[in-house]
Amino acid sequence: MTHKIAVLSGDGIGPEIVTEAIKVLGGVTKKFGIEFQFEHALIGGCAYDKYGVPLPQETIDICKSSDAVLLGAVGDWKYDKLPPEVRPEKALLGIRKALNLFANLRPAIVYEELTASSPLKPEIVSGVDIMIVRELTGDVYFGTPRGVDEVDGERVGYNNMIYKESEIERIAHVAFQTAMKRGKKLCSVDKANVLDVSRLWREVMERVSKQYPEVELSHMYVDNAAMQIIRAPKQFDVIVTGNIFGDILSDEASMLAGSLGMLPSASLSDGKIGMYEPIHGSAPDLRGQNVVNPIATILSAAMMLKYSFGLTEIYDCIENAVKSVLQKGYRTKDIYTEDSQVLVGTSQMGDLILQEILA
Ligand code: IPM
Ligand code: MG
Repeated sequence: MTHKIAVLSGDGIGPEIVTEAIKVLGGVTKKFGIEFQFEHALIGGCAYDKYGVPLPQETIDICKSSDAVLLGAVGDWKYDKLPPEVRPEKALLGIRKALNLFANLRPAIVYEELTASSPLKPEIVSGVDIMIVRELTGDVYFGTPRGVDEVDGERVGYNNMIYKESEIERIAHVAFQTAMKRGKKLCSVDKANVLDVSRLWREVMERVSKQYPEVELSHMYVDNAAMQIIRAPKQFDVIVTGNIFGDILSDEASMLAGSLGMLPSASLSDGKIGMYEPIHGSAPDLRGQNVVNPIATILSAAMMLKYSFGLTEIYDCIENAVKSVLQKGYRTKDIYTEDSQVLVGTSQMGDLILQEILA
């Protein structure tokens, strides 16, 4: 059986990190006999340069006819002046919507070897293992009306933070089911002391919780959650939250793990296609220098094996390979902390993880 994977490398460092993830998948074929067929397509600035749009229909079609999507990153400052509708970021939102990827799983795991890479004290971050479940196709990201209008002689910009009950309900189920497979603790993050949309969010979370009596549900305001993630991150098992709060809190949580370059993600729908991407951006200033950390993308590919193809043992094998490479002291620049470690580039890190898998 061959798994068909759409590969959207994107912009900036995207192609370099995706190359390393594909290298590791090659190792999976060699070791476990799992076959992959890769089909590359353009997204973001590179698609705009070729087609005048950041998300060509052809790319959507290739994704839809695949079993899963592996994505690098999109965006470059050189597109900052483009109209919002053709900016690279718009393509990311577009593909999430087109594939109905409403559930974004962002694990923030602190590997023992990397506690020193976090700017926080080791005793605070050591042992942290949080799963952030971010709603991905609603909220202020997609709400209408939105725009910038002229009102009383000045411009007014606005977006709409909006959730339908059904949207909250389906992400609630993903979050509760995720919690059932882990520590059975779910913290729902909102701003219900101020926002009507959050009050509905909270009510629906409470209602759905009746179907998961084993899961302990708590609620936290987002400002407090931002503080608690830094103060005492080990109190969290699974966090569920809306699109914009999840965007912000997941970047924050990456600092527990030492670097944005460590955090993978899975974007899932109730259909068959999942999309897998690192949570970090395209870092155009670092492109082509062989310095960035490919681990977030390699772990995203591992998440693909687990969530799209049910190959949990191979996920574990890749994660263990990453851990042993770190244990042996190899570090990319973003996680390098002391002289005794060996500083390696993007492609060497990929090679080391591959070797470890094949060992
Ligand atoms: C992320 C990114 C995106 C988002 C941007 C690039 C549109 O920050 O995946 O977290 O805001 O969702
Ligand atoms: Mg983000």
